[in-house]
Amino acid sequence: METTEADERLKIFGGCMKTRNVQALAADHNALTADILERYIRPEMAVDDVLLDNCSEEIPVIDMSTLMDEVSREEEASKLKFACEDWGFFQLVNHGVPEKVIEELKEDLMGFYDLPLEKREEVAQLPGDLEGYGQAFIASEEQKLDWADMLYLFTQPPHFRNYKHWPSQPPSFRDSLENYSNATYKVAHSILGFMATNLGIKRETISEIHGSQTVRINYYPPCANGHDKMIGLSPHSDGCGLTLLLQVNPVSGLQIRRNGKWLPIVPLPGALIVNIGDALEILTNGRYKSIEHRAVINAKEERISIAALHSPSFEKTVGPLAEIVGEGTPLFKSVTMTEYTKLFFSQKKLYGKKMVQLLKLNP
Ligand code: OGA
Ligand code: NI
Repeated sequence: METTEADERLKIFGGCMKTRNVQALAADHNALTADILERYIRPEMAVDDVLLDNCSEEIPVIDMSTLMDEVSREEEASKLKFACEDWGFFQLVNHGVPEKVIEELKEDLMGFYDLPLEKREEVAQLPGDLEGYGQAFIASEEQKLDWADMLYLFTQPPHFRNYKHWPSQPPSFRDSLENYSNATYKVAHSILGFMATNLGIKRETISEIHGSQTVRINYYPPCANGHDKMIGLSPHSDGCGLTLLLQVNPVSGLQIRRNGKWLPIVPLPGALIVNIGDALEILTNGRYKSIEHRAVINAKEERISIAALHSPSFEKTVGPLAEIVGEGTPLFKSVTMTEYTKLFFSQKKLYGKKMVQLLKLNP
């Protein structure tokens, strides 16, 4: 029965402590008392905030249409290889997600955030659940908080969709998200295929493992009196295998850890930002590495992003692939995706390269 399957997932994910809606807090100057503001102020921003010179390095740009074309493929595939080995992050252009699909989703997301709080909270997370509108990784009343609201949804496989968590306003929201999910799922699997070929293994190997997609929609309100002391999304690497990030409005905020410093990423118009997550680092036995990143906030403008997170299916094993380890030594433990997910969410905070650290075998 459908409910038992959803119940199973509840047990795997656990829930999150309820917290204030940040969009509402940002909109009401009286609500943001010194006490509340304090919960969002991050002392580490003062010491940790070393930015790499914006112009010194640019993340690689991969052109999907060149990759799809048999004549031009080889050179683009080697660019992809370099991007995966050296960066763990790249921009993907001409990715094939139709502009209409992206525009419709953007419009519906803006529409959702324009709704009054009570309407948005119709899809609020329920106690003990992570899906829906709220936040993740909050375990205490003292813990520092991220300046953002999250809408987290299961999107693939289709029978995992739990529509009670999907906004029904604007009325086209669900269709728009479904279309976007289907299109990005295809792109992600195509990229996973090229990655496998680059790694010298069968094209389908990594793709076949990654049967799941969730989306994490991030809303970062502006904050005039604290934007440089707050964080929108704490430093983390993604627990999944492959992330495709779409910037919904043209406000920057994503920064990636590069040579010990934070490098701001300015998305190219229409591009998807692709990054490697912990599960892929583990599957490739460290040949591809997940990269820490964070989101900072803006003094005046809101920022919205949507991360499509592609992960191994629950019954699959997350561990170094035998074809890649070969005669070498596995660097990580192997666990089922169910165990992996439980571990990921049982640690109620985001930090560094969490899953890579937790599963590393001692040398
Ligand atoms: C994420 C993420 C970055 C951003 O959702 O995992 O890293 O720019 N988002 O919103
Ligand atoms: Ni992330």
